[in-house]
Amino acid sequence: MIAGIYSRYNRVLHVRIMSLAMIWDIILILQIELSRSAILKASRAVTNAMALNVHVTIAVTTVVFYGFMVYTGRKLLAGDREIRRKHRILGYSTFTLRLLTFATSFWAVVPKE
Ligand code: HEM
Repeated sequence: MIAGIYSRYNRVLHVRIMSLAMIWDIILILQIELSRSAILKASRAVTNAMALNVHVTIAVTTVVFYGFMVYTGRKLLAGDREIRRKHRILGYSTFTLRLLTFATSFWAVVPKE
């Protein structure tokens, strides 16, 4: 995603990198859930339920924001110049949310016995 922001003025590269980043991220979530039942494990492991709630809420919001990015990005590509500011603000918000998802993911780690 950093590479995608770096290449934000190269349309073809930007769209390719961001699409790959978002698809990869969603595959990662599915993989971690299907192969490790992450949600069930985490809910058992976490002593502080509030910490897990915060992590899951931020993670879900991030994916919702991916939807906003595709929507506003496609409008930009279709020539809507008005939506550029929105795409930019949403873009930096999405990136911040993804960083927060990463930071709070440590709260959901199963401790070694
Ligand atoms: C997480 C995903 C994404 C992030 C964080 C992001 C972020 C950004 C940012 C910060 C800019 C610069 C805006 C400015 O400075 O005015 C930009 C431009 C742009 N983005 Fe995205 N974007 C994302 C996904 C997408 C997607 C999926 C599309 C298309 C379907 C798209 C299409 C565009 C276009 C067309 C521009 C204008 C490029 C130009 O100047 O020619 N973006 N994006």
